[in-house]
Amino acid sequence: MDLQSEILLHLPQSGIPRFVSVNDVKDIRALAKRALDFKAAPRSGQTTGLHKRAGLLFLNPSMRTRLSTQIAAQNLGMEPIVFNVGSEGWALEFEEEAIMSGNKVEHVKDAAPVMGKYFDILCIRTFPSLKNREDDYSELFINQFIKYAGIPVVSLESATLHPLQSLTDIITITETLQDKKPFPKNRKPKVVLTWAPHVKALPQCVANSFSQWINAWGEADFTITHPEDYELDEQFTKGAVVTHNQSEALKDADFVYVKNWSTYQDYGKIYCNDPEWMLTNEKLALTHNAKVMHCLPVRRNVELSDEILDSSNSIITQQAANRVWAAQAVLSEILRYQSS
Ligand code: CP
Repeated sequence: MDLQSEILLHLPQSGIPRFVSVNDVKDIRALAKRALDFKAAPRSGQTTGLHKRAGLLFLNPSMRTRLSTQIAAQNLGMEPIVFNVGSEGWALEFEEEAIMSGNKVEHVKDAAPVMGKYFDILCIRTFPSLKNREDDYSELFINQFIKYAGIPVVSLESATLHPLQSLTDIITITETLQDKKPFPKNRKPKVVLTWAPHVKALPQCVANSFSQWINAWGEADFTITHPEDYELDEQFTKGAVVTHNQSEALKDADFVYVKNWSTYQDYGKIYCNDPEWMLTNEKLALTHNAKVMHCLPVRRNVELSDEILDSSNSIITQQAANRVWAAQAVLSEILRYQSS
């Protein structure tokens, strides 16, 4: 790793780096390249985090994020410590000036500074309530940790965004394009984000975040397709083509990202569960033999068909494996600030 090169995360006014959205990144392409450099040489930064500790706080369940971030920290010489706050910790209060006479045992104002003393980097997963859009979109939980921990905070998925997943997605598209040589120089790859059915109301985080990163990356023609009433927040989708016609959207696609999300306007609802929206081989025939992506976990034959998931078009395992390199690139950039 070139330790003399520019650090790829912005330094906020607080002087404490963080990674909670694409806005914290100076150069997406360079950060993706750094991640791919780690993929080629996983231990190349093995002393960067020596004698440093990463706290991984989970207020909600996880498989990929938890394991990949632990591996990434270990590859950098760090000691990762996982704390399942949601199931094993005290119930946390996040509201300022709360009168804590209910079931919340400890205020984040007291807990976060303690964690700031135990760890060098604090990584946090929270989910939205899907009950009150204003509350969820204020990102109160992760912002309170940023405010009170006094150390760098990395989002492992927040109420509205999933930036490590999105960086992974850019890395996966980048390396797939490198493999697809020669990709025509006269056009950008067409990337389609398609809504898929699901049995539960799910957050908008992955779809918001993917849209935000692909738009900021600027190296793809980006289309979003979903049924009526599933519009996403324009602050993330602005610049993308948005259509309710899935077949039209899929035409000539190079990558199809499949994901369910619940409604945004009438917040957190399931209005449609039409199985017609599930991607099948018949629909994939409309594309440029597109590679199919999904962040996982996936509901087979509800969100995505077996025939797609088990085909050579699916790059979901490669995508999930790349979570390690995204996390390693981000942790490494924060550690570089700490040692500079
Ligand atoms: N994609 C993703 O974040 O997976 P986990 O919920 O298993 O961490």
